Amino acid sequence: MSQFETPLFTGLLQHMRKNPIQFHIPGHKKGTGMDPQFREFIGENALAIDLINIGPLDDLHQPKGMIKRAQELAAEAFGADYTFFSVQGTSGAIMTMVMSVAGPGDKIIVPRNVHKSVMSAIVFSGATPIFIHPEVDKELGISHGITPEAVEKALEQHPDAKGVLVINPTYFGIAGDLKKIVEIAHAHHVPVLVDEAHGVHIHFHEKLPLSAMQAGADMAATSVHKLGGSMTQSSVLNVREGLVSAKRVQAILSMLTTTSTSYLLLASLDVARKRLATEGRELAEKAMRLAEAVREQINAIPHLYCVGKEILGTKATYDYDPTKLIISVKELGLTGYDVEKWLREMYCIEVELSDLYNILCIITPGDTEKETNLLVKALRHLSEEFSHKADKGVKPKVLLPDIPALALTPRDAFYSETEVVPFEESAGRIIAEFVMVYPPGIPIFIPGEIITQENLNYIKKNLEVGLPVQGPEDDTLRTLRVIKEHKPIQ
Ligand SMILES: Cc1ncc(COP(=O)(O)O)c(C=O)c1O
Repeated sequence: MSQFETPLFTGLLQHMRKNPIQFHIPGHKKGTGMDPQFREFIGENALAIDLINIGPLDDLHQPKGMIKRAQELAAEAFGADYTFFSVQGTSGAIMTMVMSVAGPGDKIIVPRNVHKSVMSAIVFSGATPIFIHPEVDKELGISHGITPEAVEKALEQHPDAKGVLVINPTYFGIAGDLKKIVEIAHAHHVPVLVDEAHGVHIHFHEKLPLSAMQAGADMAATSVHKLGGSMTQSSVLNVREGLVSAKRVQAILSMLTTTSTSYLLLASLDVARKRLATEGRELAEKAMRLAEAVREQINAIPHLYCVGKEILGTKATYDYDPTKLIISVKELGLTGYDVEKWLREMYCIEVELSDLYNILCIITPGDTEKETNLLVKALRHLSEEFSHKADKGVKPKVLLPDIPALALTPRDAFYSETEVVPFEESAGRIIAEFVMVYPPGIPIFIPGEIITQENLNYIKKNLEVGLPVQGPEDDTLRTLRVIKEHKPIQ
């Protein structure tokens, strides 16, 4: 088999061309039983391959035919022993990784700035998280990855840990010394699980940070849909056998996956793998060149700063992905969210994310100078429009959430007897729900943590500027759900 082949997509086309009479789901039957306006919009081709796991089309839950071959080709492309396709996003792949190494009461070492799917898996599995503090960039107001030293220390203190989870690269494109982290963990016979949601492309260009599989990690949940050209929701889980069992991974992924897997998503993974394997280097090169040119132009604009390779050199900033444009706007006296809204209203530009101090724009092979020139033009206009604020030196102080102490395991807290208290009176109580800003979806509080006044202030600040604080039952955040305190009997 060659990387130019697409067994899954080709198999679907061959099936479609036979034009079988379908007495099976989906009931829209090639679109004919569907709302005509939607059918016309989506197009007959997409609907004709919106199929289900009938005999000729293999089954993601027990692949033996074209899905198996497509996964084998993906494993070869990513340098893995096994690749599993996920139609539950990278969230599903992350939950699988965590649940395949850690069960009730088991310890798992994780950075505190993990995506909510890691914490969800910790609640489901009943594992105990051992948190490592990520390195925090006080200038930019963002968290980077974890250092090899922190991993070594955590493993010395918790040699019975069942796994180490690493986010590599981060949402902002910063990579740690993953190879060293893997060496340290393996010296303790502990598997390394990588959240590679933002790094599908890095495997395919030597100038980009090492991919999880290149660094020798045991598992990686990799969002092909984010930067690899497949359809939203489709991801892969790459596995290296040895410290983890591919059979167990398959079983857990299957437990977490719908039985009605979308063949559109699966076929898009197959073709995205082909493109990455056969043209990935060239495409990454093009995106990097374009991003470097834009970075230079943005850095020539007064009061704006687009992060570049000068960020490297700390123990947590070992490498970076230049296709991520982290643009610090704090000198303009604006929040990232103000700028996100301004770009939307004035230029119809949508950014990847904004926070209190930055916006993040991603450059992919799908971009050309046409779009980036418009971004630079808009940012020049922004700088001119708000330079009066900057000149007055109205620079917001960088505020960062602290890491609260964990009083109960997230699962115990989640299933405890709880009560609702006013937000303003909740400091000191143990929280029973998640609170996070999405994107990036990193929890400010997780169930079981003791609520701190600093983090309540951080939430208020995010709410004040309009950033999306999510998680609590009460989405107005006037109240929080906490563990019930029983009054002592007199
Ligand atoms: C760091 C990180 N991990 C995991 C995920 C989850 O990926 P998905 O949206 O594919 O479930 C995201 C999504 O934004 C993320 O930023």
